[in-house]
Order: sequence, then structure tokens, then C-alpha cells
Amino acid sequence: MKNILVTGGAGFIGSHLVRLLVNKYPEYHVINMDVLTYAGNLENLKDVEDKENYTFVKCDICDLKKVSQIFKEYNIDSVIHLAAESHVDRSIEDPFSFAQTNVMGTLSLLQATKGFWNSNFENKLFYHVSTDEVYGSLGEEGFFTEETAYDPHSPYSASKASSDHFVRAFADTYGLPVVISNCSNNYGSYQFPEKLIPLFINNIVNNKPLPVYGKGENVRDWLFVNDHARAIDVIFHKGKLGDTYNIGGFNEWKNIDLIKVMIKTVDRLLGRNEGTSEKLITYVTDRAGHDLRYAIDSSKLKNELGWEPSLQFEEGIEKTVAWYLQNNEWMEKVTSGKYQEYYQKMYDN
Ligand code: NAD
Ligand code: DAU
Repeated sequence: MKNILVTGGAGFIGSHLVRLLVNKYPEYHVINMDVLTYAGNLENLKDVEDKENYTFVKCDICDLKKVSQIFKEYNIDSVIHLAAESHVDRSIEDPFSFAQTNVMGTLSLLQATKGFWNSNFENKLFYHVSTDEVYGSLGEEGFFTEETAYDPHSPYSASKASSDHFVRAFADTYGLPVVISNCSNNYGSYQFPEKLIPLFINNIVNNKPLPVYGKGENVRDWLFVNDHARAIDVIFHKGKLGDTYNIGGFNEWKNIDLIKVMIKTVDRLLGRNEGTSEKLITYVTDRAGHDLRYAIDSSKLKNELGWEPSLQFEEGIEKTVAWYLQNNEWMEKVTSGKYQEYYQKMYDN
């Protein structure tokens, strides 16, 4: 029996992780703590909301008093921490909210955890979910390993790097049992359409311009979100205390090439002539401080814990496009209201 506190479980990756844990481990109690920002959506978890081993609590990770009460009420023995502000472009507009949630929020969660466990760390774990962006940017060659020095460039990655440092500081200073993973770009269902893949699928469907930053030559390493959730499950159960694990798909794509694959797939599934939507490609001003290339070496995770991606990219992108086409109601809901203001501010100038 475990009482696992998952933070940010109503978001994109969090909802996939919560679903996996609730279904795979009926003997665990999964407590999803989320404040429900624009990115948090309980509709992402409709299929598990009535399960006996699942509880949702609305709470801000920065609210130390309330978080401490939740630890007590549910007798929390494990934490998987995903709650964060996660979009780089928003961090460029409003860095303070990233420092608040990602740094101060993580610190407050660490304090609540330390306070409740009170040096009784047996069978306890604080698992921090982080990103490959903390390592900075690669040139044409090479990979990020667990030994790569931190070199964040955006306010988002700086805030995530800082949160990683706080987690390690709590391990070194107070003996908190921690593990950290740093993952590459995720794609799949329930991703908020501010990120490249769902944004572009939605725009292709609606014949709207596709705003490609710079020359579209930046490279990302894409991993199907269910494979990230599987990796977290493996590391949570088998990871070595104090260790870091990189998670990636060995699946690098130049943005413009990936965009053309999305265009072909959407056009085909909508019965349009393949490639007709290429005319929507619009090159726009580059993202400030845009990292050129990310590529993760996840061989430690493979060699030590036996995890590998389960899905080839071609299959993953086909499934993903099909999901967004079949779930246009979900897309319509999340793109109404405030999303329109966001879109205008970021793209209509
Ligand atoms: P997301 O933006 O989709 O979801 C974030 C969730 O956190 C939302 O449900 C939101 O309501 C919640 N949240 C935000 N602030 C909160 C607060 N103060 N208190 C409680 N809940 C709060 O993010 P995501 O893409 O699912 O990313 C989840 C985690 O994984 C983040 O820590 C992110 O840095 C990391 N990560 C993401 C990716 C990726 O490709 N998306 C890759 C590697 C790592
Ligand atoms: O690498 C892991 C990270 O991946 C996560 O930590 C972040 O939470 C997640 O948002 C993601 O960051 P990116 O900045 O790489 O993802 P995004 O989808 O915003 O952009 C992917 C690439 O596409 C990037 O090179 C910028 C480009 N892009 C993005 C948008 C939104 C465009 O060209 N046009 C766009 O409109």
C-alpha cells in the first residue's frame, strides 16, 4: 500500500501518469494535487475520476500550510512532483510566475515533505520530474547525459534547473530520499495547444497559418507521453535513491520536417490531398534565446532499469493526430475564452 501524492496530475503528462498508476496499482491510493491553472483540466481524467483509489485535491503547491495538511490527511509516503509552469514562450512574457511556481512551489513542497516525514525516511520517496532543457543547447552533434553541466537559457529552464538544485540540496542537507528524471519533448493526447504539436494540428484543421519560429531548423527529441509515464513508473519503483535518469526517445526531428509530417498526416486523415496544407507554413520572428538542439542519451535508463520507448514515432504521431481529430470537443473547450486572448497576444502582431 502506498499513498502517492502526484502534483500537477490534471496537466498533460500528469494526467497520463495518474491514469497509469490508478489502473495499474489498485492497491495504491493516488492523490492528485493540482491548482488547475489554464493548463490543468479535470476532463483529462474523466475515465478514472470515480475509481476508489483516486482522489483529487485542489491546492497550490506554494501554499505550505495547506500542502502540509494534505500530507497529514492522506498520510503521504511518496511524492511525484510534476506541477509547474511549463511553456517556454509564456516564461519569456512572465518570468516571475515561473520562479514562483517552479522554484518557490517546489521549495514549499520539499519543506512540507520534510516536515511530515520528520526524518523517518524509510520507504519514502520524493520524485522530481524535470526537463532536458536544464542542460542548455547542443550543436550539430552529441547528446545530453546525466553528467552534462547545467546551462539553462530561458526563464522556464532556469526555473526548472533551480528546482532540481533545491531537490538535490534537500537530499544532501537533510537526507531526503529523492530521485530526478530529465525528459525530452513529449507529445500525445491531452496536450494544451500552446505547444508545437497540438497547436499546429489545430491550425491545420482550421486552415490557419502555421507560425514556424526562425527557419524551422531547431531540433527536438520527441517521446510519446505514455512512454514518459512508463519511464516514471519504472524509475519510481526501481530507481536508485539520489540518482538522476535521462529519458528520451532517440528520435530527433528538425521542426520543419516534423511540421511537414504533421501536415501530411492531418491532410490524409481529413481526406484532403496530402501536402495541400503546406501553404499554411508561415515563417515568423524566432523565439528569443531559442535553443538550437536537444538530444537525450537515455542509455542509463535502458541499461540499468530496462526501460525503452515502446512506440515508433510514425505510429505515435498517427495516433496523436487521430486523437485530436476525434476529440474536437476537448480542443474546442480548451481553446475558447482566455486562449483566444493568449493566441492574439503571442501570434497576431
Ligand atoms: P502542463 O503545463 O500540461 O501541466 C502542468 C500542471 O501543473 C497543470 O495541471 C497545472 O494546473 C498544474 N500547476 C501549475 N501550477 C501549479 C501550482 N502552483 N500548484 C499546483 N498545480 C499547479 O505541463 P506538462 O507538459 O504536463 O509538464 C509536467 C511536468 O513535466 C513539468 O514539471 C514539466 O517541466 C515537465 N516536463 C515536461 C515536458 C513536456 O514535453 N511537456 C518534458 C519534460 C519535462
Ligand atoms: O524539452 C522538454 C521541453 O519541451 C519541456 O520541458 C517543456 O515543458 C515543453 O514545453 C517543451 O519545450 P519546447 O520549447 O521544446 O516545446 P514547444 O512545443 O514550445 O516548441 C517545440 C519547438 O517548436 C521549439 O523549437 C519552438 C518551435 N515552435 C513552437 C511553437 C509553439 C514554433 O516554431 N512555433 C510555435 O508556435
